Amino acid sequence: MTDTVRILMCPPHHYDVDYVINPWMEGNIHRSSRERAEQQWNQLYEVLTGLAAVELVSPEKGWPDMVFAANAGLVLGDRVVLSRFLHPERQGEEPYFQAWFEANGFTVHTLPKSLPFEGAGDALFDRAGGWLWAGYGFRSELDSHPYLADWLDVEVLSLRLVDQRFYHLDTCFCPLTDGYLMYYPPAFDAYSNRLIELRVPAEKRIAIDEIDAINFACNTVNVDRTVVVNQASDALKEALNERGFTVEETPLTEFLKAGGAAKCLTLKVTEPRRDTPKVSTIQSRVIHLEGHLLDSGLVNRALDTIITGGGSFQVLNFDLGKQRQDTSMAEVKVSAPDQTVMDDIMGQLIDLGAVSLPREVAPAALAPVVQAGVAPDDFYVTTIYPTEVLVGNSWIKVEGQRMDGAIAITRAASNGSDQGPVARCKLLRDLQVGEDVVVGSKGIHTLRTAPSLKKKTDDFSFMGAGVSSERRVELVVEQIAWDLRRIRDRGGKVVVTAGPVVIHTGGSEHLKSLIQGGYVHALLGGNAIAVHDIEQAMMGTSLGMDMKRGVSVQGGHRHHLKAINTIRRYGSIANAVEKGVLTSGVMYECVKNNIPFSLAGSIRDDGPLPDTQMNLIEAQADYARLIEGADLILMLSSMLHSIGVGNMTPAGVKMVCVDINPAVVTKLSDRGSVESTGVVTDVGLFLSLLVQQLSKLTGQYTYI
Ligand code: ARG
Repeated sequence: MTDTVRILMCPPHHYDVDYVINPWMEGNIHRSSRERAEQQWNQLYEVLTGLAAVELVSPEKGWPDMVFAANAGLVLGDRVVLSRFLHPERQGEEPYFQAWFEANGFTVHTLPKSLPFEGAGDALFDRAGGWLWAGYGFRSELDSHPYLADWLDVEVLSLRLVDQRFYHLDTCFCPLTDGYLMYYPPAFDAYSNRLIELRVPAEKRIAIDEIDAINFACNTVNVDRTVVVNQASDALKEALNERGFTVEETPLTEFLKAGGAAKCLTLKVTEPRRDTPKVSTIQSRVIHLEGHLLDSGLVNRALDTIITGGGSFQVLNFDLGKQRQDTSMAEVKVSAPDQTVMDDIMGQLIDLGAVSLPREVAPAALAPVVQAGVAPDDFYVTTIYPTEVLVGNSWIKVEGQRMDGAIAITRAASNGSDQGPVARCKLLRDLQVGEDVVVGSKGIHTLRTAPSLKKKTDDFSFMGAGVSSERRVELVVEQIAWDLRRIRDRGGKVVVTAGPVVIHTGGSEHLKSLIQGGYVHALLGGNAIAVHDIEQAMMGTSLGMDMKRGVSVQGGHRHHLKAINTIRRYGSIANAVEKGVLTSGVMYECVKNNIPFSLAGSIRDDGPLPDTQMNLIEAQADYARLIEGADLILMLSSMLHSIGVGNMTPAGVKMVCVDINPAVVTKLSDRGSVESTGVVTDVGLFLSLLVQQLSKLTGQYTYI
């Protein structure tokens, strides 16, 4: 018997399942037997008195969970941090536990009322290293951890719980004598698992299976080499035996109904202090969000981002706009277990338009490129939104905004004099040695335009179930026609990306009309659209189908190769037009009307046509050049080219994506651009409606 170990318990005289505050309690209200609970508790008490000195705190009527003494507080030496229960159902236990600690000579530290922390249920000392493992995610707040580090003078390692069934750290994590650790890895997020693996060597880790986890095998009382537990599988017993532990099972099924077992029923009140430096790596920042926070779901997204990223938050201020057009403002304190997690979360919050509050604003951190085409590790990944970076004392606008790039800072010089720093979005492959790249998340601000209130309803479905879609497609076509006309009339720019489906569905006549009408200023596609367009122009078929009669022509599948061959003979599409070989079609109209086009090659291309750019880096550059200055991009049934274009287009450019496959449309609107409209319909039909509508609008415009 080790009488230096003292354990606190609370008899179960008032124990019952009276309410539901964890998933184990569901369906168990008043379903536990007081008699059996007394009997099981007494048996545990007997076992423990053989191992340690057990002291009692008297149970109080009306506080049935007080039996779970582990949640009284967290003891180290002669200090205790008293619990602040999350649920009101347990908050009434606090003064009784406080009285016991005070009566027993402990110095009691109390947390702010609004900061939940559930004692030794969520905080466990490592038995070798002496540091404190502290859980958060369900009951205890991450922000309570720095207080623990401070008051108890220990190093605190924060672990995030992600499975509701394991809502307290001691339900899935148990440090054992000699630095062993028994735990259930799936109860933690990836970051926490990494942290555990960094601190506890592989031979000391005992990862248990789900079956043991749900029998509360981790909810163990460990004194020296004895492990007292509700139930353990043979495999687990063996694993423990091999490491020199004796397992004592004592049934605690009545307490499992409330979500607790052996460890929950006890609190070790002799916890010798060791010399570990007082540290907590927890970081916090205050962010400011402004805009149509509720209408656009921006607050929800921001708060979800913080939680799923492994942080926690406190809303410090929330000013709700009074009228529909008013914007709202929120100030949120973000906490994260360390700098890496914080940077990750902040990166995402910045993408949502959050800014660090002025007093927290620090210039952007820069790191040099040391290998051409490779960015420093934690480089900031750009979005489609206009971005500014704080370099020195001034915010500078990032040029060439696009998503998935890095921000390179260079110095502009003119006539030999320094014009100050310039920030530019660059693809990784374009980074050059010596350039500075923005890293981390400080000093970066993205501007998000207020999303239109009708955002999510903008995806019109022509054939989708449940929508009176025909009319809705007409409505959206009306809007697009109106936009096209205004853009054309003011000398703006419309870019079309198109897949071969445009030709197969009979859309080429209409696309031709659009080009002739001056509505198209650049055409982007692949080898196929040009091949099928030329095949149709020369032979009247598209992939061997007679486009007038809608039937396949004998031997027609060879037609497209013949078309390719002919163009190859003339060296280019333009040459074939000039020589009078190609006399109609979409490509012909482009050449005739001086509409620049770019055909990006791919692995499946036949031919290719001499115009097809098979060097994809060149092709991306051509696309980027043609998109520059676009007001609207009409994406017609080409997932590959539309998404490619979406990736290089900054926010603010309207995108209309037409595809029969809703997944493509959704994928494009998911890039977060508020200006994108999705139309799920047959592209041939769409183009026909569009041309009709345009001819109505312009009067003089002739519909072919
Ligand atoms: N019903 C209690 C609760 O949900 C059970 C507490 C279990 N205690 C523990 N240390 N895990 O709060």
